[in-house]
Amino acid sequence: MISYPFIKIITLTLGTLALRIPSFDSMEGWLMSMDKISIFDTTLRDGEQSPGCSMDLDEKLRMARQLEHLGVDIIEAGFPIASDGDFEAVRAVAAACRKVTVAALCRTLAPDVARAAEALARAAHPRIHTVVATSDIHLEHKLRKTRSEVIEMTRASVRMARNFAEEVEFSAEDATRSDIDYLCEVLSVAVDEGASVINVPDTVGYTLPSEYSRLVATVRERVVGDRDVTISVHCHNDLGLAVANSLAAIEAGARQVECTINGIGERAGNASLEELVMAMHVRADQLSFENNIDTRQLYPTSQLLSAIIGSELQPNKAIVGRNAFAHEAGIHQHGVINNPLCYEIMTPESVGVMNNSLVLGKHSGRHALALRYEGLGYSLTQAELNGAYSRFTELADRKKRIYDQDLISLLSAEAKTRPEIVLV
Ligand code: KIV
Ligand code: ZN
Repeated sequence: MISYPFIKIITLTLGTLALRIPSFDSMEGWLMSMDKISIFDTTLRDGEQSPGCSMDLDEKLRMARQLEHLGVDIIEAGFPIASDGDFEAVRAVAAACRKVTVAALCRTLAPDVARAAEALARAAHPRIHTVVATSDIHLEHKLRKTRSEVIEMTRASVRMARNFAEEVEFSAEDATRSDIDYLCEVLSVAVDEGASVINVPDTVGYTLPSEYSRLVATVRERVVGDRDVTISVHCHNDLGLAVANSLAAIEAGARQVECTINGIGERAGNASLEELVMAMHVRADQLSFENNIDTRQLYPTSQLLSAIIGSELQPNKAIVGRNAFAHEAGIHQHGVINNPLCYEIMTPESVGVMNNSLVLGKHSGRHALALRYEGLGYSLTQAELNGAYSRFTELADRKKRIYDQDLISLLSAEAKTRPEIVLV
């Protein structure tokens, strides 16, 4: 695969030499688009359908606007046939978000496709996303359909959807537990009928990175070939592997990744958008792919979602959890104070967290304490710091978390009355 930096060097060199062959611009676009990962956010659909995560119309709109601001490429706004509320939400998001693609989910049934198309009528960039299961267990126990019936449903629904929208995505639900030959047959029918995005979801969070990578490579070879079709991945987190599986799939050729803010979604959730994006950002040396996300909007977006659905994130949640940039052990704090790179692989600012909260507890050291006092406006002499530190360790033995107001009360009377740094 040609890496982005390599393309960039060629581009710049040719540009500098003014070697402008006629199709150069389009070739540059083509080369670069090879390495662009489209971020398909399904917070408002897969995320919202999980327990405790429902949102009303206004909340969905607020979230959709923030997702657009964050830079996602596609917002899956709902499943219009499921309820009038979902229908209205898709309609409203389609009208409000003009820069992104707005997708609506439907089963491979004519009334579903028609309802999705109706909900998307005002979208600037509509996408109909049609789905049917392909695993034998789903065919037998859920759909009660034969393999050939599902093939015909795929054919008819993609054909119908293409009459309404340029862009049609087809998903083979439970792809990772489907017979590979049959899966490829169904996906090929979808592509023949005009689907430009084919999704191979790990619906039950069952697959492993190496296995998923082989699946994507097989689909790429046997279904896509040289056709202009994007392979999408959609991973659930039942084994805690959703992000790892998605990254493995990207390395194998997937160019769209479906994910949610804070990883919300059915059961254990979906791949978390912030984790995927920051993995690609921090490890660009290994994963040289581009995306449109403004990483500084990750934390504000996560906070907005938490506020809307009224649920607190686990403190140790990667990237956006309260403790994601917190350091308690003295040896870590000392290192971070000297140089954050000692223990931080990304800056808090890069994900929109404005300051590094060194959590003060019984393992904390003098360096962190002095720094926190400085932040509070107190510049202590060594003797004052020593006194405060001994009272601090005493308190920390009794109290799990020490807050700023505790620190001020620990100061000697003299130090207390003499804040030297004026806080504005
Ligand atoms: O998990 C799944 O398979 C889905 C599909 C609708 C893509 O959510
Ligand atoms: Zn899903």
